[in-house]
Amino acid sequence: MLNNHLWYKDAVFYEVYVRAFYDSNGDGHGDLAGLTQKLDYIKDLGVDCIWLLPTYPSPLKDDGYDIADYYDVHPDFGTLEDFKTLIDAVHKRGMRIITDLVLNHTSDQHHWFQEARSDPASPYRDYYVWSDSQERYKEARIIFVDTEDSNWAWDEEAGQYYWHRFYSSQPDLNFDNPKVREEMFKALKFWLDMGIDGFRADAIPYLYEREGTNCENLPETHAFIKEVRAYMDEHHPECILLGEANQWPEDVRPYFADGDELHMNFHFPIMPRLYMALHQGDVSSIKEILARTPEIPENSQWCIFLRNHDELTLEMVEEDEREWMWQAYAPEERMRLNLGIRRRLAPLLSNDLSKLLLANSLLLTLPGSPIIYYGDEIGMGDNIWLEDRNGVRTPMQWDSSPNGGFSTALNGSLYAPLVDSKEYRPSVISVAMQQADPTSLLNRLKHMISVRKAHPAFGRGDFTWEASITNTSIAAYWRSYEGQQILVLQNLSKEDQLINLEMNHVKGNSLQDILTSQKLGLKKNDITITLSAFEYHWYLLDRGDY
Ligand code: GLC
Repeated sequence: MLNNHLWYKDAVFYEVYVRAFYDSNGDGHGDLAGLTQKLDYIKDLGVDCIWLLPTYPSPLKDDGYDIADYYDVHPDFGTLEDFKTLIDAVHKRGMRIITDLVLNHTSDQHHWFQEARSDPASPYRDYYVWSDSQERYKEARIIFVDTEDSNWAWDEEAGQYYWHRFYSSQPDLNFDNPKVREEMFKALKFWLDMGIDGFRADAIPYLYEREGTNCENLPETHAFIKEVRAYMDEHHPECILLGEANQWPEDVRPYFADGDELHMNFHFPIMPRLYMALHQGDVSSIKEILARTPEIPENSQWCIFLRNHDELTLEMVEEDEREWMWQAYAPEERMRLNLGIRRRLAPLLSNDLSKLLLANSLLLTLPGSPIIYYGDEIGMGDNIWLEDRNGVRTPMQWDSSPNGGFSTALNGSLYAPLVDSKEYRPSVISVAMQQADPTSLLNRLKHMISVRKAHPAFGRGDFTWEASITNTSIAAYWRSYEGQQILVLQNLSKEDQLINLEMNHVKGNSLQDILTSQKLGLKKNDITITLSAFEYHWYLLDRGDY
């Protein structure tokens, strides 16, 4: 395979919900074999690494994040054999694949919990966190505020309360128990040995609990991840850990440690600010959060995203900003969930192609590796009438045949209905239609991805704002790496903007737009450009004789 241990710094990621992607056997559920059949599509988009949502056996009360067995595949999705076939097929195409590793909790259906609750003398009792009262760890916040009113749940059978940070059907594991840590090591070794290229480390801040703290980001948690990393560096040096720490940048920074903890972390706080910027036509919120983002070690990388399988989380904004975001992007009550918004990218951006392209331009040029959520590359819609986060997890729309080409099952037996609204149904939005149209979102995004990949400055380069641009409607920054200098110019507003670039500090002959091949001469130091609504350019500096 590609022998480059920093591959994740250049990679474009694609998040796949297997159940939604492609149903190979007509039972109404997408499956691993279906995903394997669709790998050429993903490869063609320019994806380097697939992130797979959990496919373990599970009662699916939290869509697989409630694991009942760490060593198998949910029968709806296929078998371990199918998983191996998928990994091989991914590698054969020069791509990689990571999967979710849920360390913090199991399903209450896991046999550990079943034995723990039924017998206080069971060795599994101490796999979980129990208490006689709800008074412990009171400073820990509740995450699923719409459904849970406590992090403790009473278990009739056990006669005690157990600790859970998510749904009460997901009891937290007790990481103070060395056996639990051993079990988790065993599980991750199993998947690494099978050939997986790493993990998205789910809910990573919450592994340990300590009285008098908010039970997040504790030193013990960092110590455990470091052990995992050391093991991976020794035995699987090209495999990565991508952390889900929904925290402020200064609290995420320690997860990179000295480049010896997590390889990558999602940059949660920048995400809602991209939407703020796009709605206000003003770059300030992006500037503020990047100013608050510490430097990270050379071998580390941020991961940025516009949407994922969860609600668009508004945990990392101030209260007034959250209200503002809700009013701007979730005017109907049904669109809101917990502290977030359960809508997809295209509906959030009013299905406006130029805005969607601009959002993707930000995603592909800001510091970090981008993740694209399945379906967003064609601007799929959502269904806010489905429960929980299911409205953003509907079947992939391949073509305009029945069930959008997702499955041959009878309509009523699909795991979820296809989006059926006038604007977003498969007869209007599908892969096949967009493949045939050179101006489609899919084809334009594909082009942007290929240009990004041809220029290492995007994945590895320094980031600096272009100082001569003071117009806050414009996001203008340089990405520079080993002599390659790219100026990204983007108009966030819906008005034309006349800008004056002062290029005194730049030594070069011209700026070449690497998306369109157009050239801007640099004979004069001042260049005046008009950017129309949501227009963007990626200009590579041609240094000529300099
Ligand atoms: C993560 C997942 C989310 C899940 C939760 C509990 O936040 O992204 O989907 O519900 O962990 O496992």
